[in-house]
Amino acid sequence: MANVAVIGSQWGDEGKGKIVDWLSSRADVVVRFQGGHNAGHTLVIDGTEYKLHLLPSGIVRGGKLSVIGNGVVVDPWALLKEIEYVRENGIEVTPESLIVAENANLILPMHGAVDRAMEAARGKGSIGTTGRGIGPAYEDKAARRGIRVCDLAEPDLLMTKIEKLLVHHNALLKGLGAETFKAQQVYDSLMQVGDTLLQYAAPVWRRLDEARRSGEKVLFEGAQGVMLDVDHGTYPFVTSSNVVAAQAATGAGVGPRSVGYVLGITKAYTTRVGSGPFPTEQDNEAGTLLGERGHEFGTTTGRKRRCGWFDAAMVRQAIKVAGIDGIALTKLDVLDGFDEIKICTGYKLAGTDIDYLPSSQMAQESVEPVYETIEGWQGTTRGARSWAELPASAVKYVRRIEELIEAPVALLSTSPERDDTILVTDPFLE
Ligand code: GDP
Ligand code: IMO
Ligand code: MG
Repeated sequence: MANVAVIGSQWGDEGKGKIVDWLSSRADVVVRFQGGHNAGHTLVIDGTEYKLHLLPSGIVRGGKLSVIGNGVVVDPWALLKEIEYVRENGIEVTPESLIVAENANLILPMHGAVDRAMEAARGKGSIGTTGRGIGPAYEDKAARRGIRVCDLAEPDLLMTKIEKLLVHHNALLKGLGAETFKAQQVYDSLMQVGDTLLQYAAPVWRRLDEARRSGEKVLFEGAQGVMLDVDHGTYPFVTSSNVVAAQAATGAGVGPRSVGYVLGITKAYTTRVGSGPFPTEQDNEAGTLLGERGHEFGTTTGRKRRCGWFDAAMVRQAIKVAGIDGIALTKLDVLDGFDEIKICTGYKLAGTDIDYLPSSQMAQESVEPVYETIEGWQGTTRGARSWAELPASAVKYVRRIEELIEAPVALLSTSPERDDTILVTDPFLE
């Protein structure tokens, strides 16, 4: 099986963009299968930084097919803006290099408005969403009133669908004291972008079936991370989609056996943006240092990321529920220079030792991490491209993580740059 799925194993921002970019040299097709422009994936190539939200990170390499699968919620304006952004950077985007599933649901302006109004209404209990309309768009999909890419080709039916959609959303917006939408306005603005978007629309499942039959290698690019998964994450402080590897099949229109090797992208410490439990959070000097050294600011919203020690119990759980075969350990260099580094190996809940994060919100908020302390290292790992360049204590840290999470390190990343990556096991050859 030559395909690979890349997913985040923590709360997002593990460095998926960098690893997908690096792996995409080995792939023919790169597919986004869930989430939307709540994602923010950073790639650094020869000093030039690219920030992608909706386009697959393979887009920056010529000669690859980029695919936005049916599991993604697509904001047409955000997509077209991002296509312009990459074009300004000299990257060609054509219907030959990018296809969008015709059955993908759209994010429309009322989704963002409802997302933000709901968050405001939640007050102190807010989720801290990205405000991009992700949740409301997935709600509409499940409620069977969503508008899909293919609907843009059927203007009469589209108007009826918008009217029905607004019966729901305008009632909600009115109740929340926010401005309502007019069907004609939504229709007109959609019509302005409809033809452009339709150029990219395709039955993605057919193209991926062709890829399977002709032996092309497919790289599935996840967004967010397992702890933000709507089923397996720290509910309700999660995103509204499944982000685990199984979703690569559903969200692209391929069978489960096509997913192939599952690579979990894992930061050498832990970060989280938005609200919700975070057992190993360090609201102190160590957390500030991690944030400063790791430049931990959200790629999408610019919010400061909360920082803490590596939570091996949580990552072990993510590995099990998501079917991760091996991890890419990123940002090891951020730990350079710490005298001591802590790893959470399990939790205490009401005085009892537990080795997993329970589902209850109360329990997740009250678990106490149990740490073991590892000696830091003096030399630097930054920019290392082979094991031999790593200080002995850094290797010890990596080996201990492998032991605790019960999965091997397949790749190691030592800087934001594409080539500062150590390959241990090629996921495409597994
Ligand atoms: P994603 O959402 O998982 O793609 O991750 P983001 O792009 O939101 O955040 C990861 C950040 O870490 C980006 O700024 C990357 O350029 C950067 N990064 C990725 N890998 C490494 C690494 O090994 N070391 C350092 N120092 N930075 C990295
Ligand atoms: P990438 O792909 C980190 C978080 C938000 C919020 C919660 C719900 O870059 O790793 P949403 O807008 O999805 O309804 O917000 O999920 N969140 C992310 N955090 N990285 C992301 O994506 C995220 N996408 C959503 O901060 O807590
Ligand atoms: Mg990100």
